[in-house]
Amino acid sequence: MPFSDYRTALVTGASSGIGLAVVERLAREGLKVHAVARSADALRALARRVGCISHAIDVRDIAAVTKLAQGIEADVLVNCAGVDRPKKFLQADPEDIDLLVDVNLRAILHLCRLLVPGMAERDRDHVVNITSIAGAYNFAGNSSYHATKAAVSMLTSQLRCRCGPDAQSEVGMSHIGRLPIGLGVDHDRSQPETPARPLDA
Ligand SMILES: NC(=O)c1ccc[n+]([C@@H]2O[C@H](COP(=O)([O-])OP(=O)(O)OC[C@H]3O[C@@H](n4cnc5c(N)ncnc54)[C@H](OP(=O)(O)O)[C@@H]3O)[C@@H](O)[C@H]2O)c1
Repeated sequence: MPFSDYRTALVTGASSGIGLAVVERLAREGLKVHAVARSADALRALARRVGCISHAIDVRDIAAVTKLAQGIEADVLVNCAGVDRPKKFLQADPEDIDLLVDVNLRAILHLCRLLVPGMAERDRDHVVNITSIAGAYNFAGNSSYHATKAAVSMLTSQLRCRCGPDAQSEVGMSHIGRLPIGLGVDHDRSQPETPARPLDA
């Protein structure tokens, strides 16, 4: 469906990097964009620049996310908020595991639960979940991050099953590779990506 078929979008992770660029593009295409992140100042600056509506919300706060979603008739949902904590799994902090699951997966599940039924009813539903090559390949990354991104890939495939061949629905995922922005700059590039080692090696 062309941009002109959509009216309203909700984009998480809107204060920087990929999410910010998505907000800029959707706003330029004439959509009313609800931009979500925690950094109120960055969102306010973005709102002044592109005319989006800013919501300084932590996506781990499901009550706040629910209140927001209930007040919006979204046609487009872009789940972009994401975090990484570059650390080997054997040294993982319990708080980091919870953080990655809560931001990278739990928030997306809830936003889809809250918004996709209404979108489907209106037959104007376009969902993009930003995942990562980490969801498909193993390399020297944080295993918790890989696991959350793999889960989002599967969620997205499942959502696609909801749509019959004639449905207008567009459900997609972007498997992002390493970019020189956002989370990408935190990666330890001194470590070469390690190929998978067979279990019996
Ligand atoms: N850059 C890459 O190389 C790369 C590669 C693969 C996948 N990705 C994926 O692409 C997506 C965007 O990443 P990016 O590279 O653009 O990184 P980024 O610039 O660090 O953006 C992350 C965004 O998520 C938001 N966020 C983080 N925690 C949040 C929370 N608890 N509640 C609400 N918002 C939260 C941040 O806003 P606040 O801090 O203001 O809350 C920020 O807007 C992520 O899902 C990431 O996993 C990136």
